[in-house]
Amino acid sequence: MRVIKSVKSIQQFIKKAKAAGKTVGFVPTMGALHDGHRSLLRRCRRENDIVVLSLFVNPGQFGPKEDFAKYPRREPADKKLAKKENVDIIFIPTAKEMYPAGYLTYVEVERMTQGLCGRFRPGHFRGVTTVVGKLLNIVMPDVLYLGQKDAQQAAVVTRMVRDLNFPVRCKICPTVREADGLAMSSRNQYLSAGQRKEAAVLYRSLKEARQSVAAGNRLATVIVGKIRSRIARESSGRIDYIGCVDADTFMPLKRIQGKAIVVLAVWFGRTRLIDNITVQA
Ligand code: PAF
Repeated sequence: MRVIKSVKSIQQFIKKAKAAGKTVGFVPTMGALHDGHRSLLRRCRRENDIVVLSLFVNPGQFGPKEDFAKYPRREPADKKLAKKENVDIIFIPTAKEMYPAGYLTYVEVERMTQGLCGRFRPGHFRGVTTVVGKLLNIVMPDVLYLGQKDAQQAAVVTRMVRDLNFPVRCKICPTVREADGLAMSSRNQYLSAGQRKEAAVLYRSLKEARQSVAAGNRLATVIVGKIRSRIARESSGRIDYIGCVDADTFMPLKRIQGKAIVVLAVWFGRTRLIDNITVQA
């Protein structure tokens, strides 16, 4: 496994690999790797000749009052996990390598970044699409692997790839969950024992929403209302949003028809968790 820190070196390596006919799969991350990342890496390993993993806590996607400074950084443990998963290259750029002095260019996907996390985290998706766009130009992968846990991010990046003709295929992989259903996230480690226990209510309430749709409920207000009351009844979580959205556009739905996603963001203490479930009417 090679650790590469400079844009020039990784581009040279990838160009050579591609000239030799190798396929390149890419898993972008901010590190603090967990089993969710592991499942992306395993799929990437199965489907490509070369597996590239990036570790970069991207300052551009954090708001001024968010957790950039305290975001977990675990480079030695991440390298160990990557080695175990047979990663070929870990790309670990510095902020200066990614955003040299005088940096001025940003990528923005409109409309579908306005609601949900976009509303509560202004500028977040602009930061994500900018860094992912840069990473795609740097790593030049054939396939990009993203997690369904960050459903809006996955939909926004997929749209950017389509709209800007990046020559890459996006594969969205299922959310990996703890035994009690909590979606794996690097931010779970911020939770106290009590908050961690309470946070399992998120998946319980999403599963209830799916059952409710299967039983014939179609109105978003009814589905959202049920989730809201369960979270209030069973936890101290503070809700940022709960919504039903179109699976591709992420536009809010009043009525569920066909495939939709039920999404939520809830605070437990000072930790904000997101989760979602696909429903079919
Ligand atoms: O999901 C993440 O870890 C980040 O948003 C990503 C895609 C690596 C961009 O910084």
